[in-house]
Amino acid sequence: MIIAQISDSHVTPGHPGRADALAACVQDINSQPESVDLVVHTGDLVHDATASEYETVSHILERLEKPWFVIPGNRDRRAPMTKAFSTDRLGASEDGFLQYEIPGFPLRLIALDTLDETAKLGTLCDVRFAHLKTMLAEDKNTPTAIFMHHPPYDVVESDFPFQFDSRQTVERFDQILKSYPNFIRIFCGHSHRASEGRIGSIQASTIPSIALDLRWGFYGDEVAKTPLYQIHRYDPKAGFVTCLQAANGSAQAVQTVSAP
Ligand SMILES: [Fe+2]
Repeated sequence: MIIAQISDSHVTPGHPGRADALAACVQDINSQPESVDLVVHTGDLVHDATASEYETVSHILERLEKPWFVIPGNRDRRAPMTKAFSTDRLGASEDGFLQYEIPGFPLRLIALDTLDETAKLGTLCDVRFAHLKTMLAEDKNTPTAIFMHHPPYDVVESDFPFQFDSRQTVERFDQILKSYPNFIRIFCGHSHRASEGRIGSIQASTIPSIALDLRWGFYGDEVAKTPLYQIHRYDPKAGFVTCLQAANGSAQAVQTVSAP
């Protein structure tokens, strides 16, 4: 199973190169030699959460030839996102949070909503924790991974490593995950750089931003002007192998291998 993760496109009219960068990633994903099963955008689709920005992103993502899904980042807002994308592309819980299970794949995939519409930092609340518990409790056997915008670990490469509202929130999250041995992996955005960390025994990672002018980290001179995204290959025996992918047809070295 192959998942393409894209993140932090921050599309906005004042920076037309960001929409171009997103389009380049879409084109590269469509031309992957090994067929991608699905694509997940882990948030900050747009920069100012206007309807026209979401319309631009939606038009670009519609070119994807495989199922694709979006989750909110701190620059997103739920109301315009929900208007811009069909329920096939994002799910809304009864309480209006955009967290949902992505059905139809051998691996169980859960999209979490860590957005606080009044702050940059991530959060999870009683409602979202309860919903997560319900989703996890429905299947305690199938290997399960989560996509979420804010990383629930310290991104040590960053000047602002911790990006949740409190340690307590992350501890609560960790306590829930510990109850499910079939829970295996977390994929995040937000940091605008590639990083790896852990929450408890679970491996987690962040991905460079698609927006080149907002990207952190050094990935080689040859891709300095090329948008990057990640391909996660899952094998039941080997676990996940993550590859940093340049939107010019070239793959970077294997970045991460995580146990099944
Ligand atoms: Fe971002």
